[in-house]
Amino acid sequence: MEAKEVKDAKPKFGWCWLLLVSVIAILVIAAGVFTIVKDFKGSKKNPASHHSGPVVKKYADALEIALQFFDVQKSGKLVNNRIAWRGDSGLQDGIERNLDLSKGMYDAGDLMKFGFPMAFGATMLSWAILEYGEHMKAAKQLRHAQDSLKWITDFLINAHPSENVLYVQVGDPELDHECWERPETTRERRPLTQVNASFPGTEVAAETAAAMASASLVFKKINSYYSHILLEHAQALFAFADTYRGSYSVSIPQVQNYYNSTGYGDELLWAATWLYHATKDLSYLEYVTELNGQQFANWGNPTWFSWDDKHAGTHVLLSRVNIFGAKGILSEENLDLQMYRKTSEAIMCQLLPDSPTATSSRTESGLIWVSQWNCLQHAMASAFLAVLYSDYMVTSQISTLYCHGKLYNPADLRNFAISQADYILGNNPTKMSYLVGYGSNYPQYVHHRGASIPINANTSCKDGFMWLDSINPNPNVAVGAVVGGPFLNETYIDSRSNWMQAEPTTYNSALVVGLLSSLVRSSLAVESFT
Ligand SMILES: *[C@@H]1O[C@H](CO)[C@@H](O)[C@H](O)[C@H]1NC(C)=O
Ligand SMILES: *[C@@H]1O[C@H](CO)[C@@H](O)[C@H](O)[C@H]1NC(C)=O
Ligand SMILES: *[C@@H]1O[C@H](CO)[C@@H](O)[C@H](O)[C@H]1NC(C)=O
Ligand SMILES: *[C@@H]1O[C@H](CO)[C@@H](O)[C@H](O)[C@H]1NC(C)=O
Repeated sequence: MEAKEVKDAKPKFGWCWLLLVSVIAILVIAAGVFTIVKDFKGSKKNPASHHSGPVVKKYADALEIALQFFDVQKSGKLVNNRIAWRGDSGLQDGIERNLDLSKGMYDAGDLMKFGFPMAFGATMLSWAILEYGEHMKAAKQLRHAQDSLKWITDFLINAHPSENVLYVQVGDPELDHECWERPETTRERRPLTQVNASFPGTEVAAETAAAMASASLVFKKINSYYSHILLEHAQALFAFADTYRGSYSVSIPQVQNYYNSTGYGDELLWAATWLYHATKDLSYLEYVTELNGQQFANWGNPTWFSWDDKHAGTHVLLSRVNIFGAKGILSEENLDLQMYRKTSEAIMCQLLPDSPTATSSRTESGLIWVSQWNCLQHAMASAFLAVLYSDYMVTSQISTLYCHGKLYNPADLRNFAISQADYILGNNPTKMSYLVGYGSNYPQYVHHRGASIPINANTSCKDGFMWLDSINPNPNVAVGAVVGGPFLNETYIDSRSNWMQAEPTTYNSALVVGLLSSLVRSSLAVESFT
């Protein structure tokens, strides 16, 4: 299975890599000429060598587990199903509009398909594969990550049947939450919700564009036809998002109770940034650096990266462009890119635990902790950005980060990320692994319909709640789920009715997959995306 992933999935090298490859070629020819290596390593202009050490078993094992949650969450006709208690479901989704919306993934412990967080999960999974696909391959997980991503993008393609129409929800959350059923047996109505030119949804259309643009890069070398289709959808969706500006939370007030969006400017910048990476079309860079950047980028004001707020991700992704350079960038644009990079540095300085500007949003033993509901998302998302920024520094041989007079190095950022990952995997006061299936002590009462109901149960909508209320642990393990996480005081109540702490989400898994894959090996000189 792994054979197909070899070389052809490797991104095309940028100039730095051409240089490295030539040096290696010279080395092979003149085997034994040791001085060349020395010269190469000594030269400031060359990238750091690919000194990714051995696979760290702990993170490779955790990654293998984490990726399985995407299989737990799949809707549709399953292929190569790895989860014994899952079966086909949602086969009629979309049929009322002659669409096949059977694929995609359930959002969390319910049976809803919410397009906004689902697309965010896909974008993050793409980003993880693009930066750390080599690590995933070393852990024999790349194929699973690619397959999970495609399961979502197949859905997103079908959810965008015409230029200015995007289906953003399958199922009715009120109906859905009145029932406690397995996806395989539910008979509830699953209506569709769309955004369109009259009822726009800029953030959801832009996030979907980001997902498809980033995925088009992932599939570029593997399936160029599919990659091309994704890119066409991404460009059309971005135009739709930008032309018909309005929040989906205003167009469809019902979503406010679930995934309320606090603004769409960040998603416009995020989508344009991904489209720039996918196309190298400078108009997308102009988009983020000119008026829109000034209006939406929030330079100098770090915010927490989440399904609702893409600012921090955009800052780091544009730092990539600033740090590694790009052809044809004008000097004013470069100044604006500097602003993104400076904001990334401010974010990093907040994350480092002993920095003068360290955030106080953490638990006593150091977990980033911002909100009671699904607190782990901020820890994982921040740690992923930190290790990525650290690797950008390593690659470009930037050795120091200044935080108000104190100096840090890439290893400090990586160590911060490791502290968050290790906390999640059980190095915490409760000694509980918040990654279900990892270690010997993990939550047994995950708030998840499918995991809590025995496969041979005869219950339906209402009497199914007996499984929510049951005092027994879940009969099925929601393997790979990352639950919401601990309270600020670092306690955790393992109870199915404690949904703020005990409910996993699909996008959480994308975040943890990014974080774990970054740590599978000791360090990485990141490569160009294309
Ligand atoms: C446009 O979207 C709104 C909100 O979902 C929906 O009520 C309306 O029916 C849609 N318009 C068309 C022509 O389908
Ligand atoms: C949704 O977000 C908007 C904008 O931040 C806010 O005005 C509104 O009150 C929120 N709705 C709910 C139900 O929280
Ligand atoms: C489901 O119903 C069948 C037939 O009525 C019965 O034999 C079986 O024990 C029931 N299963 C459960 C888990 O209640
Ligand atoms: C920890 O915090 C939670 C939520 O605020 C609270 O309910 C619980 O009592 C606290 N536990 C301890 C041991 O302080």
